[in-house]
Amino acid sequence: MEYLLPYLLDWCNLLLRWLHLIVGIAWIGASFYFVWLDNSLVPPTDKKMIDDGVSGELWAVHGGGFYNPQKYLNAPPKLPSHLHWFYWEAYSAWLTGFLLFAVAYLLNPSVMLVDKNIFDMSGNVAVIASLAYLGAGWLVYDAICRIFGVGDKADKKVALCLVIYVILASYLACQIFSGRAAFLMTGAMIATIMVANVFFWIIPGQKKVIKSMEMGEAPDPIHGQRGKQRSVHNTFFTLPVLFAMVSNHYSMLYNSTHHWLILVLMMSGGALIRFYFVSRHKNKPNYPALVFGIFLLIITIFIAAPAPSPANTSASTTPASFSQVKTIIEERCVVCHNGNIANKNIRLDSDESIQSQMTLIYQQAVVTKIMPMNNATSITEDERRLLETWYKANQP
Ligand code: HEC
Repeated sequence: MEYLLPYLLDWCNLLLRWLHLIVGIAWIGASFYFVWLDNSLVPPTDKKMIDDGVSGELWAVHGGGFYNPQKYLNAPPKLPSHLHWFYWEAYSAWLTGFLLFAVAYLLNPSVMLVDKNIFDMSGNVAVIASLAYLGAGWLVYDAICRIFGVGDKADKKVALCLVIYVILASYLACQIFSGRAAFLMTGAMIATIMVANVFFWIIPGQKKVIKSMEMGEAPDPIHGQRGKQRSVHNTFFTLPVLFAMVSNHYSMLYNSTHHWLILVLMMSGGALIRFYFVSRHKNKPNYPALVFGIFLLIITIFIAAPAPSPANTSASTTPASFSQVKTIIEERCVVCHNGNIANKNIRLDSDESIQSQMTLIYQQAVVTKIMPMNNATSITEDERRLLETWYKANQP
């Protein structure tokens, strides 16, 4: 039974990832829709609507039906008996994300979270550090919002602080965790802020407003203002977070020397592009934001470009023998790819398995240098070059 454990864990990983994507789409999709809706509303012309306190309406056609959503400036004259709340999307995105993080990273922290060349720590310390990073990330953000409060001037100050804060937090993550984990942790930390905003402020604020209305009192506008401020933050966090989540699959980003800068530039580009789309909904498209956002992405392509490695010029050296290759694999790979532990179902503990997975070995250990994971077994550049000469001489 025990031999099935890695296989079953891989299934957990796959199913959680699938679910996380689905609820993530539901959440971000609803967020995109409401931001678009809010910015596309036009003042009503119908007298009854105006008298009822409708501040904006919109006509749309979708899936064979016509829709006419209306937004009330404060609240409808009479609260409807059934009110749909949007929150399960956010909560389930966080829960599935956290479980996926636990399965993929926390169960194997010394391999997945730690890169000894970046910061040497034990697996347990890394687990605590990652959880602390998520928790502290929210506390600091929340403190920034509380200290400055709400209002036009305060909103600007908060926004400026948040830009600096996200840059510092990205830098810090890249100094503590392995590159791949650092990108994910930064995304997860911002996503935690977004969900906590919904959980601790936006939904409770709305509940308080409804409560005072039910008691026949005028609701305190602070709840609306606070919810709005945090909701705007969430809007600009969406694209950076999605980038940080998918960046995990691209070693060219997180294995680069300036990986923290790459993370910051790509997330800033994403936030600017989101800014452009929001302005476009309002019919005031901010093209400089779009151009600057794309400019940051292009700059990053240059910054992340690999230096020509000596390996590329060594084609003429004599190819490594199979026994040399086998020694390297035994020393650097087999600990994590054998009969007991076979990460990603890859075993490298026999001649045949090495031969038959030659291309995979070349890709992972020479081209992308993802393997050995976070170079846990300290493979040398010379050894990588030997693997390359062997592959080039024998490639299928
Ligand atoms: C410290 C543990 C460790 C070492 C050492 C290690 N690997 Fe891996 N390997 C992993 C883990 C963990 C995964 C799964 C990565 C993931 O989930 O994306 C993996 C995945 C792989 C994959 C599958 C990649 C894919 O996504 O298809 C290949 C191929 C691989 N390793 C080859 C190697 C080679 C070659 C070496 C030696 C040069 C090596 N590994 C050393 C931990 C290790």
